[in-house]
Amino acid sequence: MPEYLDFRSDTVTRPTPAMRAAMAGAEVGDDVFGEDPTVIRLQERIAEMLGKEAALFVPSGTMSNQIGVRVHCRPGDEILCEANCHIYYYEQGGFAQLSGAAARTILGKSGVLRPEQLEGLVRPPDAHHVRTRLLCLENTHNRGGGTVQPYEAVEASCRWARDNGLRTHLDGARLFNAVVASRIEASRWAGHFDTVSVCFSKGLGAPVGSALAGPAELIHQAHRHRKVLGGGMRQAGVIAAGALYALEHHIERLADDHASAQRLADGIRQIDLLEVRGESIDTNLLFFDVDPQLGTGREFAERLKQQGLLMLPTGQSTIRAVTHLDVDQSAVDRAIEILGKVATGS
Ligand SMILES: Cc1ncc(COP(=O)(O)O)c(C=O)c1O
Repeated sequence: MPEYLDFRSDTVTRPTPAMRAAMAGAEVGDDVFGEDPTVIRLQERIAEMLGKEAALFVPSGTMSNQIGVRVHCRPGDEILCEANCHIYYYEQGGFAQLSGAAARTILGKSGVLRPEQLEGLVRPPDAHHVRTRLLCLENTHNRGGGTVQPYEAVEASCRWARDNGLRTHLDGARLFNAVVASRIEASRWAGHFDTVSVCFSKGLGAPVGSALAGPAELIHQAHRHRKVLGGGMRQAGVIAAGALYALEHHIERLADDHASAQRLADGIRQIDLLEVRGESIDTNLLFFDVDPQLGTGREFAERLKQQGLLMLPTGQSTIRAVTHLDVDQSAVDRAIEILGKVATGS
């Protein structure tokens, strides 16, 4: 594959030489026997960072979310979530396939739910209804545009859930982006939720892996669910070492990605026929719309690709761009140049 400037996702990063060295040198064992010291270290470290009793290393964010749903829900239960959240929008309705749960979606603004929107959503306890059981939030919100949830809204929504006897799960695939942008510690965000999923393979730049954190009893159940989903891994310390390295070295630098996304957004705002969505760019993700004169989002992205720039069409006229470890400021400036050239046909 020729070298492209790749802004499709923060999952495209390749491990740095130092991360690779940490991975190559990892102490390993059979993690299905619970004997991989590096996995154990990672689980303890992330649990501590999130202020939870325990954590479980899993292959992906999808598995982490789905196990999260499964430890809370039985068949016939209902989850409440924002309409564009990953768990609802991008996981094949896994909550239904794997846990027998139904979902009730609520449309937020840029992925943000106002706590008032939850009022009255708990179903009455009679035999006609599903049992409303779980509130899921996403921070930062991917399809919302990398939005950092307002802290007070998270606090109030989770309080409402607790007061109504519901459990809470946070899809924190990009929680550390929210931490860096808000300067609110991970454990404070996580403290409002029963379970929290985080990904090492997004902005943190590790090649593989996510973790589900929560009370020891729930993580014990999660361990069983991971096994039946095929997520038991053997000498997984090799990849856990990449995740540990990322926690050590790649959190603070997320601020650079956020600055790059701002720079990119500022550049796009100068280009006629392209329009950045939303009022602000909170973190490393942005969406922009392409005027129909320039064709569809997909066609525009194809023309960008011919110029060496990869961005992700996500709707009829919409394109997503994400900044990450492998795109520096000069890559951003070059991307703006290419966008301008393709938009003006010059
Ligand atoms: C918010 C969010 N949650 C979960 C996931 C799923 O992660 P994975 O691709 O590791 O399954 C993603 C992936 O992009 C995501 O953006």
